[in-house]
Amino acid sequence: MITMELFSLSLLFTVSLSTIIFFLFRTTTASRRKTRLPPGSIGLPLIGETFQLISAYKTENPEPFIDARVSKYGSVFTTHVFGERTVFSADGETNRFILQNEGRLFESSYPGSIANLVGKHSLLLMRGSLHRRMHSLTMSFANSTIIKDHFLVDIDRLVRLNLDSWTGRILLMEEAKKITFELTLKQLLSIDPCEWSENLRKEYMLVIEGFFCIPLPFFSLTYRRAIQARKRVTEALNLVVGERRRERERGVKKNDMLAALFDSDGGDVVFHDEEIVDFLVSLLVAGYDTTSTTMTLAVKFLTDTPSALAQLQEEHDKIRANRGTSVALEWDDYKSMPFTQCVVNETLRLSNIISGVFRRAITDVKIKGYTIPKGSKVFTSLRAVHLGQENFKDARVFDPWRWQNISDPINFMPFGGGPRKCPGHELARVALSVFLHHLITRFSWKPAEEDKLVFFPTTRTQKRYPIIVECRNVGG
Ligand code: HEM
Ligand SMILES: *[C@@H]1O[C@H](CO)[C@@H](O)[C@H](O)[C@H]1NC(C)=O
Ligand SMILES: *[C@@H]1O[C@H](CO)[C@@H](O)[C@H](O)[C@H]1NC(C)=O
Ligand SMILES: *[C@@H]1O[C@H](CO)[C@@H](O)[C@H](O)[C@H]1NC(C)=O
Repeated sequence: MITMELFSLSLLFTVSLSTIIFFLFRTTTASRRKTRLPPGSIGLPLIGETFQLISAYKTENPEPFIDARVSKYGSVFTTHVFGERTVFSADGETNRFILQNEGRLFESSYPGSIANLVGKHSLLLMRGSLHRRMHSLTMSFANSTIIKDHFLVDIDRLVRLNLDSWTGRILLMEEAKKITFELTLKQLLSIDPCEWSENLRKEYMLVIEGFFCIPLPFFSLTYRRAIQARKRVTEALNLVVGERRRERERGVKKNDMLAALFDSDGGDVVFHDEEIVDFLVSLLVAGYDTTSTTMTLAVKFLTDTPSALAQLQEEHDKIRANRGTSVALEWDDYKSMPFTQCVVNETLRLSNIISGVFRRAITDVKIKGYTIPKGSKVFTSLRAVHLGQENFKDARVFDPWRWQNISDPINFMPFGGGPRKCPGHELARVALSVFLHHLITRFSWKPAEEDKLVFFPTTRTQKRYPIIVECRNVGG
């Protein structure tokens, strides 16, 4: 009796499910004929292929979800994730087209939960002429001239200061985060590491955690905690900004991002403290996890590839020897690290901390014979291009030497492209190079235990990469 009931119930379920699928299929094929969306499957009603996406990334393959669909439908396909039909692109040319046409055909698109965390006056959420102006302001604060003349000294000093306290077993990911936070705080606000900054960083880590509970943020404790932490961070920074305004009125000049924001006052836009704080918070967010994870993964890839580590060590020991008694790294030193730049590029290519970016079509857009209808969500996967065998030979292997032969890496976009290209790209490269220099010339290390890469929801290692360090005895 019970079995019978169950049977009919399951029959009913199967029938209604297939009806739903039938209608779904009809509507998609019909609408596809009209608009010719890229091919693909939009999965179940509402949830789409979200669960396939999430469960796919539990494997060690960095791009399981995209790989499976690219081989079935081609490098531009349609799916349905996180509540919305989304066109995915794993094609370099299409990605460049999408990113270059920011503001004309597409615009960046963040879920509301993210907007609440970064703040509404963040560069990430700005549009149009305000965005152009603030993006270029950020660039001119972080370009190579400024780094050379101004930041390099601090980057060098703060990296060395942090390494001074390393002995025995350390969690590399935690150390890299601490270094990155201190660097950014110095560059934005001229604040040196202290108890206050370490407390601020703890609040910050809570804010960052909020980014990774995306699917159902409003039900999540982590998310609510992140919002509260953001409020405390904002209050702390508000005090700093207010104090600095008063200092400035007394004629004290400083050379940092905050000064640049104050100085841009008097143009067509006047920034209030609230806007300035939002802006600073979002710069801290954007540079923090990205740079520190890249540092950690560079070390992991090198540790797993001894021949690359040996060559890098040779390069840096030479620089160190040429400097004689001075420990501080200079711009000319940075400019004479060709193999280091290969290692940096290869790490960025393989790990791509920002695996891709979301955009929304602001008009009907024709791409590769398909039409992406106005309002559609688009995901440009930067990493899938970096990992495509047609773009890089043996694409999933860490091979820094490949960069000795690449002259025009058009399919290499770890920092995005177009008007929203990462304004911190140069800063991140310098920080990474300086970090590698001091690490390699001062320490030898080995992994404290086995640790694996994971790729979802962010790229990182499972155990924050514990290593055991030992001082090398090379010239002080
Ligand atoms: C390895 C380190 C980094 C990586 C891989 C990285 C990657 C990226 C990518 C791919 C974008 C493009 C987002 C989009 O197109 O929507 C971006 C934007 C951005 N990045 Fe970075 N980034 C890094 C470090 C930094 C640093 C150190 C800063 C701090 C100055 C920073 C600040 C920003 C900001 C403010 C944006 C938003 C730009 C806009 O929307 O106009 N990033 N980053
Ligand atoms: C960097 O920005 C400064 C202004 O902050 C500008 O004077 C300089 O020319 C820029 N340098 C480069 C290489 O773009
Ligand atoms: C780079 O190119 C040269 C000449 O084409 C070749 O001999 C060499 O093996 C290549 N190196 C790598 C790392 O691919
Ligand atoms: C690293 O990549 C950049 C493009 O992002 C390129 O301009 C540079 O030449 C590359 N460096 C090396 C050593 O190949």
